[in-house]
Parts: sequence; C-alpha cells; structure tokens
Amino acid sequence: MSNYHIKHLEEYWQVYRKSVRNPAVFWEEIAEEHFLWRKKWDEVLSWDFSKPEIKWFAGAKLNITENCLDRHLATRADKTAILFEPNDPKEEAQHITYQELHARVCRFANVLADQGVGKGDRVCIYLPMVPKLAVSLLACARLGAVHSVVFAGFSATALATRINDCNCKLVICSDGSYRGKKTIDLKTIVDEALEQCPGVETSLVVKRTGGAVVMKDGRDKWLQPLLDKAATTRAATIVDAEDPLFILYTSGSTGKPKGMVHTTGGYMVYTAYTFKNAFQYREEDVYWCTADIGWITGHSYIVYGPLTNGATTVMFEGVPSYPDYGRFWEIVEKHKITQFYTAPTAIRALAKENLDFVENHDLSSLKVLGTVGEPINEEAWHWYNDHVGKKKSPIIDTWWQTETGGIMISPIPYSTPTIPTFATLPMPGIQPVLMDENGKEIEGNSVEGRLAIKFPWPSIARTIYGNHERYRDTYFSAYPGNYFTGDGALRDAVGYYRITGRVDDVIIVSGHNLGTAPIEDAINEHPAVAESAIVGFPHDIKGNALYGYVTLKETGETRNHDNLRKEINQLITDRIGPIAKLDKIQFTEGLPKTRSGKIMRRILRKIAGKDTSNLGDISTLLNPEVVQDIMDKSLA
Ligand code: WTA
Repeated sequence: MSNYHIKHLEEYWQVYRKSVRNPAVFWEEIAEEHFLWRKKWDEVLSWDFSKPEIKWFAGAKLNITENCLDRHLATRADKTAILFEPNDPKEEAQHITYQELHARVCRFANVLADQGVGKGDRVCIYLPMVPKLAVSLLACARLGAVHSVVFAGFSATALATRINDCNCKLVICSDGSYRGKKTIDLKTIVDEALEQCPGVETSLVVKRTGGAVVMKDGRDKWLQPLLDKAATTRAATIVDAEDPLFILYTSGSTGKPKGMVHTTGGYMVYTAYTFKNAFQYREEDVYWCTADIGWITGHSYIVYGPLTNGATTVMFEGVPSYPDYGRFWEIVEKHKITQFYTAPTAIRALAKENLDFVENHDLSSLKVLGTVGEPINEEAWHWYNDHVGKKKSPIIDTWWQTETGGIMISPIPYSTPTIPTFATLPMPGIQPVLMDENGKEIEGNSVEGRLAIKFPWPSIARTIYGNHERYRDTYFSAYPGNYFTGDGALRDAVGYYRITGRVDDVIIVSGHNLGTAPIEDAINEHPAVAESAIVGFPHDIKGNALYGYVTLKETGETRNHDNLRKEINQLITDRIGPIAKLDKIQFTEGLPKTRSGKIMRRILRKIAGKDTSNLGDISTLLNPEVVQDIMDKSLA
C-alpha cells in the first residue's frame, strides 16, 4: 500500500482509516518520504482549536521553491514546468522548462532582494495570467518574503485596502492585460490605488500590452531591464515550516476582507499530496487548471501542488469565449491535456453554446475532469460528463476553501464511484462533521447540517493577518473545538457529502465569494441611499446573481431610477470590482426588520428567488407591512 498514491477504493479506505487513527504519524511519513527538508521537525503537530493555535512540522527548515524547482533539476531539467497559452491563439504558446523556470525565479528573486525585499516582507502581486505571475510568487518564496496576490479584476480601492492591510512595501504589476477582445489598463488602477498606500516604496512593472503608462519617478521601475542585469542563481532563504508563505484575501460577512495567512511546510505537504491523489497525476500528464492565480485554486493547483510534484502545469491568459466558445477545447486538443479543472459557472456558460464547439475537437487525451468553487448543478454535471468526458473521465467535484488551502472533500478518480452533485468522501486526514443549530454533532447517515471539521490538517490557514481574534470568532466560535466552514452539507445513506451552499452572508457569484456587507457599504455611500440589503438569487450561468433592495432617503425621490441603478453599480465597480455588480435593483419603501433592528434577509432572499409561498411568520417583524409592498414591486 502506498499512502502517497491511492489507486483503488479499498486502498482509499485503508489510507483514510490510518490517517484518522493517527494523523501525526500519517503526515509525518508522507512529509519524510516526498519532500526536501533542510532540517526535520521537532514536532509533527501541536494544536488547540480554542486559542486557536495550529502548528505542523514546527522547527523544520525548508524552502518551498527548492521543492518546486531545485530538486527536479536532476531528473526533469528539460521537462516543461509551465506551459503558457496566451490570450491570442495566434501568439505562440511558451514551454518553460524546470531549468528555465529555476533561472527565472532566481533572477526575479535577485531583483526583489536588490529592491530591499527580505524574509517576512509582504509583497503585493497584481498581474494578469502571464508566466511572470507564477514566477513572482516563487521569487517571493525564494526569499522567504510573503506574497499577497490580488486578483487583477479588483478595483483600485479594493487593491489599496489589501495593500495597506498587510503593509506591503513593494507591488508587482503590469502595464495592462488582455482578456478576450479587451485590453485593460491595469497600471492606471494601480496608480490610483497607490495614492492611498504611503507604505509602498517601489512598484515593478511588467510590460505585457505595451500601452502608454505613467511611470512615477523614484517609485515605478520597468522590471525587464532589472531582470536582464540580474544573476540566474540565488540560494534559497531557509525558513521555518511555520513561517508564512502567503496571505490571500477572502470575503467575509463583515466589511473588511480577511487576509488568510498560510504557512510553508504544512501547506506544501498537503497541496502536493492532494494534487497527486485528487488528479491521479502521473509523470507524463499535462495538467490544466483554468482558475486565475489570484484565487486560492490557482495558488494551490496551478503553482504549488503541480510544481512540487514536478508536473507540467498550463497557465491560460484568456477567456473561454475568445476567439470563440471552442477555446477551452481547442487548448485541450492542442496540448493534449490530461486533467482539466474548472468552475461550474464556466461549464454552464459553455453548455449554452452550440455543441459543435466541443465536438469539433479531439478531447481523447482527457483522463480526469475537475470542478470547484460552488455547487455544481446536475444538468451541468451531466453536460460535462457526456460531452467533455464522453462518460470516460471521472468528474471530481472538489470542495474546499481559501481557508483550507487544499482540497478537502473529493472523489479519488478511478477509485471513488461518483454521483452528480456530490463531493463524496473526505481526503485522507480530513474529518468532517455535521452540526445542528444548537451546536450538537449530528451523527449517522442520511442527515443534513452545517459542515465543520473536527481535526486540523496541514494546510489550514493559521490566522487572519493582523486580527487573530476575528480568526477565532469566524471559524472556531460557532462550534467550539471545531473549524466551522460557513457551508451547509448533507451526508447521504452511504456517507457521501453533498455541499448545499453558504449558510452565512457570503454569496458565490460565478465562483467568486462576495460578502454582502462590503457591497452594501458601497451602495450606502450613494448620497440618495438610506439603506440597502443584498441577497443572492439563482442564475442560469453564474449560479447566483445579486439582487439589491435599496431604500432611498427621500421616499418621493423623483430621479430617474435607471440612472440611479447605473450610479449604484458604478459605485460597486469602483469600490470592489465589476464582479460584484447587481443584476437587479429594487427600490423599496423600507426593509423588513426584526424588533432588534436586524434586516430579515431570509424574507428578501425568498422574494428574490420567487419563492414566496412560505415566508414564515412575519407578524413579529417591526414593519410587516413593507413585505407586501416589496412583493408587489418585486423584479423577480
Ligand atoms: C464553495 C475555492 C460546493 C463553498 C476553492 C466554499 C463549493 C467556498 C465547492 C470557498 C464545491 C467551493 N461544491 N461548493 N465543490 N468548492 N465551494 O474560498 O461555499 O474561493 O465555502 O475557495 O466555495 O470559496 P473559495
């Protein structure tokens, strides 16, 4: 039996039982056999969920880039590490070998060091999906610096908030980006953000589009000339397993984004292990995850998981619809992709288009199909299975979170029988539990509740940057002794898990987590707005879309409502980004509230979802009369 590579269902169960019987022994064996440590740990695991404090492999010394790069040079120097597929199919794909990637990372690390970046410093990365994005992460890690990648679709305000929250001293950005037919001027967004970021001394600018940019003297520097002068080797800075590797922001129920802190050793072990098993990765495979590195999926399963395994990982700069809706399948055929990992929203969007887009391509190289980010509906699952996988490639519905660092619940392809919409079984080492509303564990099968995890795994986030109390309150206070996920789930008769969706004020739109509070804050900035409430409602492609209920200050507001809607969406675009725009905005006389003044979102959610048959008891509301009025004027 191999703990590291599970090949059939009985083996899964054996490995799983072992992993929960003695997790420390289980993970220690894996860590010892498959990674390069400069010094072994003093203790495999110490933890206390009440503080909470979690340490894996404490005292061990390593550098993750030696695991991603250096140790492959003896056997895989000429193997493609990153396969870059540009936005424009006429631009040639780039095959960057392990040898070349090693040199590029060292060069970039030397430049960063020259700019004064050292161990523990925070570096913000705001780049499109070009190879330098992956190289930037690794260059920071080479120096023991902490990267904080911000998805390059966020607005200037959102970027500035994230830069300031963790005091980044340097920003890596680009002149612009290509997305389908569009060219986006990213540098202007960065310039606007940096006006609010006094702590940033330097910005390094990658040239991608060649668009005109303003370079601020003393602060902005073109990256390429600095790289040209830098040496192609650099000794890795050795860090402790519990030193931070990166910060990645995720939305929460309250206004400020949460800077989840991931540390080095445990994160490396867990992402490598889950990559190997969830994707059944083998040496000759060409693996493609379509996510952006700006999200956790890209961190763990484009960069770190694949590279620690010595894999070929594809980075795609473009969008699924350009130059036409066959682009994904064209890339699968062109590069003979073996594992394909995407989001349900992309599957739904492509399923709407003509089947010829799929059928015109040879997809026979595919062995595993993955999905992540939100629950996948049955129809999308079948379309993916029938037309992309031709019923031969198992679909792994992988449930996990920014906070968990790696895949938590997922079938092991070719081992775990799959059922549409079920994430199925926990990965080795993961101990899920379902909780009832009173905080009691629900035992047995065929039950539904709130999903929590009762034992630490190596890649759990260790804190929220600068706010450990919020970390404790958000994840460890609902069910003391357990990590609370914020998701609901059911466990069926055979013990398979199905994730039913968020049970908090986070709404997942096209696979992006959006907190309602920051959107409401943005809307409330509009001078005509008194208050607002956002809820999600089902949407064919996005999974959920946003419905805003907005009360204006002057009830007799005579301004054109369509203009107001545009202004509100513009404010949201400015404060957060276009991904958070509202699909529907209903102006209301008031919002239903409890006697303690809390907005009753449950009612608003039902109205937005056209599900008003059973609104529950509304007589206890402070203002039950508004409910009828809202229903009468509903846009649903
Ligand atoms: C949701 C993405 C159902 C869930 C890796 C979770 C899913 C949130 C699935 C985390 C899935 C992710 N089925 N729901 N397979 N995968 N989710 O932090 O609500 O961007 O809590 O991490 O996405 O989103 P995040």
